[in-house]
Amino acid sequence: MNNLYQRDCLRLLDFSSLDLKNIITLAQKLKKDKKNNQEIPLLTRKKIALIFEKESTRTRCSFEVAAFDQGAQVTYLGPGSTHLGTKESIEDTAKILGRLYDGIQYRGHDHTTIEILAKYSKAPVWNGLTEKFHPTQLLADLLTIKESFPKKKFHHIKCAFVGDAHNNMGNSLLEAASLVGLDLRLVAPKECWPEKNLFILCQKEARKKKGNIICTEKIEEGVKNVDFIYTDVWVSMGERQEIWDKRIKLLRSYQVNHSMLDMTNNAQVKVLHCLPALHDQNTNMGKSILQKYNFKNGMEITNDVFQKHQEIIFEQAENRLHTIKSILVSSLLKEINL
Ligand code: CP
Ligand code: NVA
Repeated sequence: MNNLYQRDCLRLLDFSSLDLKNIITLAQKLKKDKKNNQEIPLLTRKKIALIFEKESTRTRCSFEVAAFDQGAQVTYLGPGSTHLGTKESIEDTAKILGRLYDGIQYRGHDHTTIEILAKYSKAPVWNGLTEKFHPTQLLADLLTIKESFPKKKFHHIKCAFVGDAHNNMGNSLLEAASLVGLDLRLVAPKECWPEKNLFILCQKEARKKKGNIICTEKIEEGVKNVDFIYTDVWVSMGERQEIWDKRIKLLRSYQVNHSMLDMTNNAQVKVLHCLPALHDQNTNMGKSILQKYNFKNGMEITNDVFQKHQEIIFEQAENRLHTIKSILVSSLLKEINL
């Protein structure tokens, strides 16, 4: 039997290193089959509920397109459109959705909500982002890293995550590095370092796999000789408006720009971003925030760096589809014959 059958995906540490390797390998196969018009729909008659308490472009569309490609059907339950958390408890919602659907995706605020959903649902539950973790994003990131260096082991690949390292992306990167042994540097002011216990646990596990994880405030030290610089927004969905002033003050010097790329000492350095990015003023939010805080050229990443590296950044975004499809197939099929 497929080892991932009926398993939840609430955080990456729900998986072993081998599970993760299998998910990525299956994603590569599914990506290739789709590109060659040879995809076989394996999930016909499966039904998937998509609960979104926060907005989303990539995650929602990837779940939907992955389901459509595989012959499954989805119900989108947007913010405020169910009784969840208002008139009906998470427990009761989990019980009914688990009877109607074969799987449930949840994006929301508190991580304990998804833990309760998973506890009471008969069907597997997948985390499409909580304030603590964003595991399906990391699956796409690992696939993108692998595609850039197909022959290299993860412990020979250096990645610096620069910016708000105590958000869901920082935590999930830590967990990913602990499972695959990536050489990960979290480059951020101390106030934005992840929770100590998680850091120590992940560092210990990463070392067993010949990898390493460090936290540093020093940009030059953190990005030196890296293969990848990865960043994310400085203020995440659901954070209080009042946080902007403080966060920007802390992170202003951690912007990914050309002078930071020069510090890597690697002319081939690649740039990742989970998106959406505040890289220009072409959105209402970009315009008001960049003007208010006097950023001439992007916030966490400058527009010139973003444009120059957009090919890999959008490949990373497309990889959300292939990796989410891999998770759906893995957790909904007892046997995978591909
Ligand atoms: N990266 C990511 O999760 O994007 P969305 O918020 O658009 O889903
Ligand atoms: N840290 C970001 C990730 C977005 C994909 C957020 O939670 O808003």
